[in-house]
Order: sequence, then C-alpha cells, then structure tokens
Amino acid sequence: MNSKVAAFDGWIRSDFVTLNNELEALYFEQDDKANVAGIGEHAKQQLEAQGREHIQTLLAQGNTDEGFDRAFDLLGNVGLYMAACRRHGLSDPDRDSSSPQQEASALAMHIAASIGVVPRFATAHLCTHNRAVDGQYKRFTDLTDERVFVDYNSKGILAFKRAADALMRVLPLGVSHPIARDLFHACADALEEVKESNRVLFNTLDPERFFYCVRPYYKPHHVGGQVYRGANAGDFAGINVIDMLLGLCQANEPSYGRMLVEKFLYMMPEDQAILRDCMRRQSLMDEFLAVAPEHHGSSWYQENLSAFLRLCELHGEIATQHHNQLVHTYIVRPSEQMDQKHMGQLTASGPALQGLLKALTDLRDRRAGAPREDILTRYNELAHLRASLG
Ligand code: HEM
Repeated sequence: MNSKVAAFDGWIRSDFVTLNNELEALYFEQDDKANVAGIGEHAKQQLEAQGREHIQTLLAQGNTDEGFDRAFDLLGNVGLYMAACRRHGLSDPDRDSSSPQQEASALAMHIAASIGVVPRFATAHLCTHNRAVDGQYKRFTDLTDERVFVDYNSKGILAFKRAADALMRVLPLGVSHPIARDLFHACADALEEVKESNRVLFNTLDPERFFYCVRPYYKPHHVGGQVYRGANAGDFAGINVIDMLLGLCQANEPSYGRMLVEKFLYMMPEDQAILRDCMRRQSLMDEFLAVAPEHHGSSWYQENLSAFLRLCELHGEIATQHHNQLVHTYIVRPSEQMDQKHMGQLTASGPALQGLLKALTDLRDRRAGAPREDILTRYNELAHLRASLG
C-alpha cells in the first residue's frame, strides 16, 4: 500500500470512527433521535475536512495501478467517507443536485469505472472483503450493535455462498447422480447455518440502536450527479443462484429480472460472472419435473428429490424469517414510532417503505413457493413433486 493510501486507511480506522461515535452519541440523546440538523456541527466539519484532505492528495496522485484488491479497498474507504457525510446531512439527495463531496466523487468514479463496480461502498467492503488489522475490521462506529449487524451479515452471506457453491456443483452431474445427494445435504447444512445466524442476530441486535445509529449509514446518496442506492446484504450472487437453481425464482420473470439487472454492479466482479452464468442454466426443479413421469419409482429419484425439496423448504423459511422478523422488527416497527417527517429518508434502496415491503413480500412468497394469484410462484410444481414422493 503506498503511503497516501495507508494514511487515509489509518484515518478511516481511527479519527473517522471517533468522530462518528461522538456524533452518534449526540443524536441518540435527543427526543427526536432521527434529527441530525444543527447537532455536532464542529465534529461534522472536522470529519468532512479531514477526509477531503486525504482524498485530495489521492486524487492528485492518480491511478497507481496496484491491482484490483487495492483499488477495491480504496474505493471502500472513499465510500465509507461519503456514506458518513450522507448520514450526517453533509450531503442529501433531497436537497442537492449533485454531491457536495466533489473530490471524493471524482476519486470514487475513477476507481469504480476502472474495476467494474458502483462508485460507492458496497456490502462486500464491510462484510466479505474487510481486512482486519489487529482483530479490528473497518466500521463506521465502535457501537456494539454495528459490530453485531456486520458480523451476522457476514456469517449469513458466507453461508449462503457455501449453499450456492454446493448447488452449482450439481449442474454438471445431473439430479440423478448419487453425489448430487451429498451436495444437496451440504447445501442444507449451509442454509441451516444462515437460519441459525439470523436467529442469533434477531435475539442480539437492539432495534432502536440499529434503526437510529447503524441503518442511516446505508442510505442512498449522490456520487457526482447520480444517486446510488445503499448497500444491502443481498448484494452477492449466491442468494440469486440459490433462487434460480432451486427454480423458485426465474430470471425471465420481469420484476425478478429487473432486480438482477439493478444489482449487478453492486457485486464483486467474480460474483457478476457467477450470476451471469447461472441466468443461462436450467433449474434443478425443472430437471426433476422433466424426469418425474419416467423415474418417480426409482430409489435415486425418491432420495434425491426429498433432499432437494428440503432445500426449497429451508430457503422459504429463511426468506420468511428475514421478512417477518428482521425487516419487521428493525425497520417497520421503529419507523412507525419515528417522527413522520423523516419517513422519506428511510430505506437503503430509496423507494417508499410500502413499495419496498411489497417487493420483499413478493420475494418471500416466491422463495416459499406460496400460493399467489398475482405473481408467478412454483406452488403447483412443488405440490406435484411432493405428490410424487412415495
Ligand atoms: C435486503 C433488511 C439482515 C439478506 C434487505 C432489504 C431490507 C433488509 C430492508 C431491502 C433493501 C433495500 O432497502 O432495498 C434487513 C434487516 C436486517 C437484515 C433490518 C437485520 C437487522 C440480513 C441478513 C441477511 C440478509 C443477516 C443474510 C445474508 C438480505 C438479502 C437481501 C436483503 C439477500 C436482498 C433482497 C433479497 O434478495 O431478499 N434486507 N436485513 N439481510 N437482505 Fe436483509
């Protein structure tokens, strides 16, 4: 790492966190905890000015071509700075026509365009690609609830990736292969881990702290003239690989396909390649449906299909847990208690809460294979496959 990059990284890991801590304490002691206007002005100015000073030197230095990992890491640091500016009201897409952090925008856009990702921090920067130094990985604050949130997002994402990896290995073998069963069991173990990790998160994370002190760093904000949505734990290929290979969601279904297109640049380039590849494949559910009439009496069919259907069940349970527990407890319920003037600024993707909830409800029902008249789910196909088990 060159010395200017190292100095900025050092600042992100130290004074940046101290200033965010100081501001969070001031906001949280107010009756209206969502208010940032007129609070901690000196700390805000320090944060903006100190970050800008580091970024100006980096911008002047230009592209030093130190490889993808270094560039991605630096983009993450610029992204954390811009997200903190947004959190403290130093930028606001409802007020500004472009980002007031011009140097940071220029540096973010330069790096992002050169490596093929969005010019803002993404989930990978905080979860799967966040290097720890002496046991500490990068965060906005020292708050326990931020650490819990990032830890359990990382655990969930890594377990989903293991589940997706096992499923992808079935593709060249086919669903009748004896090893496909082992892979289905490996996938089930990984999905059980996601479920357990979400359960612990739900029992540990404080709703008020999350809502007022963690979530606001994930808001949409400008980079240059364009607004980019916030990061969310779904910005990796594995979750959609599982959706599509199980056959519960289909890329040619307009709203699901739109979501895939929208998320590509929020993912690491290797995840983009995995997702693109999976979008071209036939689902494992369709493979079972195609062989069911001829082979439903075979022992391989009975054993492999039961293991496969367990995966569909688990995937539905996790989506239901995410929606009914996490989204409801940590976003919907606290938002009902918040001063309603802040409602417009709520979600990471920007759309009003009701619209977001509808999209997440549809996803939950597709993953659960629930009976729905208005959207395509695999309810009938799942019932047909279940009926073919002896
Ligand atoms: C997306 C809430 C934890 C997986 C979302 C969205 C919300 C949300 C509101 C939609 C993003 C947007 O605003 O556009 C929460 C809350 C959590 C939490 C409140 C905990 C306090 C997790 C965890 C995972 C996860 C631990 C597991 C990896 C996902 C996925 C998506 C998503 C995969 C993308 C949409 C989808 O494909 O389902 N989450 N989430 N979330 N979240 Fe979470």
